[in-house]
Amino acid sequence: MEKNSKNNRRTFLKDVAKASALTATVGLVSTSTALANNESDLVVSNNNEHTFLTFPYLQNLTSNSVDVMFITNNKAYSWVEFGISNLTQKAHTVSDGFVTAYNRINCIRLNNLEPNTTYKYKVVSKEIIEFKPYDLKYGTKIKSDEFTLKTPKLDEDEVSCVIFNDIHDRPYSFGDLLKVNNRPFDFAIMNGDMFDYEEDEAQIIRNLLTPCASLFANNKPFIMLRGNHETRGKFRSELKNYFSYPTNEYFFSFTKGPVHLTLLDTGEDKPDDDDEYSGIVDFDAFRVKQALWFEKEMQKPECKSAKYKVVFMHIPPYHSGDWHGTLHCRKVFSPLFEKYKIDLVIAGHTHRHGVHLPSKDHSYPIIIGGGPKKGNRTITNLIANKDKLEVKMIDDSGKQVGEYIVTG
Ligand SMILES: [Fe+2]
Repeated sequence: MEKNSKNNRRTFLKDVAKASALTATVGLVSTSTALANNESDLVVSNNNEHTFLTFPYLQNLTSNSVDVMFITNNKAYSWVEFGISNLTQKAHTVSDGFVTAYNRINCIRLNNLEPNTTYKYKVVSKEIIEFKPYDLKYGTKIKSDEFTLKTPKLDEDEVSCVIFNDIHDRPYSFGDLLKVNNRPFDFAIMNGDMFDYEEDEAQIIRNLLTPCASLFANNKPFIMLRGNHETRGKFRSELKNYFSYPTNEYFFSFTKGPVHLTLLDTGEDKPDDDDEYSGIVDFDAFRVKQALWFEKEMQKPECKSAKYKVVFMHIPPYHSGDWHGTLHCRKVFSPLFEKYKIDLVIAGHTHRHGVHLPSKDHSYPIIIGGGPKKGNRTITNLIANKDKLEVKMIDDSGKQVGEYIVTG
C-alpha cells in the first residue's frame, strides 16, 4: 500500500462502490483485505446514489448497550432495526429534542439490551434531498444486510481481546494478522498509528473502517487509541467523529471481567515546540492532565478491586529511545505505574516487537508490538480469568514471538 493516502475522487468512488456492493450482497464477510490491493474489479459509480460508505461497526459494547456506527455518502435520517428473533425494535439518536437527521456519520446507541444475548440488527438510511423549514423531502431509502452482535454476560469471569499497533495505512494487515491470531477475542484495541497522518474521510474508511468493519467490527467492538501519527495532518481534529469514546476523551478506563484497562494517549514523540509541529500541538500539558486523571482513576473501588491492571499506550515509557515523548511518558506516567502496581503495559511505536521483563528501571513488564512492514508485523492477544492473565504475541508468519503470564 502506498504510504500517502490517495485523495482522488475516482479512488474514493471505487471504494464506495465496493463497500456498497458488499453490503448489498453479503452479510458477514472476510474478503475485505482485497479492497485496497485489488481495485481493478471494482465498479466505478459516478452518480450520487444514496449508499453506505461502511459496514456498521460497533463501539462501547456492554451487557446492556452498544453504539452502532456507520457512514452514508449523502445526508440522511438513519436508524438501526434490531431484535432477538425479529427486527422489531428501532433505535435512533435524540438530542435536544431533535431526532438526529441530515447527517452522514451515525453513532446510534441500542439501550436496554439483555446480557449474554445475541441480537440481530441492520442499519437503515433515508436520504434527505431537501431540507426547507416547512418542506423536508426524503429520497432513496437503503437497508444493510442483517448482522449479529452478542452482549457479554453480567460479571464476566473471563475477558479476551486482540491488539493491533502500527498498521500505518496498510489495510490488508488487519486480515493478514487476524488470520494468524490463534485465540478467540471479545473486542479489539487499535494501539496507535493506524495511519501515517490524517488526510481525509476516504482514508479513514479505506484503511481502517472498511477492513475492520467487514472482518469483525460489525460483530465485535474495537477501541481506537491514538498514536503519534494520528496527531498529524489536516484531518486530525475530525478523527474523533468516527469513533465513540465513553467520556468523549481519547484517554479512558474501564473494567471488564477481572481486568481494569486504562488507555492513555501518549501524544507526539518530539517536543511540542519542534519545527515539525509548527506550533499547533500541546502534548506535555495533555500528558500531565492524563497523569492527574490516572491517579484519581486508581482510587476508584472498581480499579482497586480488579485482579489485574493493564495499561495500553502507544509510546512505551522505556525501550523506545530517548526522544522527548518517551522521556516525558517516563516522567509523568511511570512513577504512577509503580505506585499503583500496574501488572502490564502494552505499547507499540518502536516497530520492534519485544517482551521487556520487569527490571531495575520498571517493576512492570512492557510488551511492545511490531510493525508495519510485512515480516515485522505482530498481533497480540490477551485472555484473563481469575487464575491468570496471559498475553501472546504472534508475528505475521504465525510464529509466537512473545508471551507473558500474570498469575491471579
Ligand atoms: Fe508507528
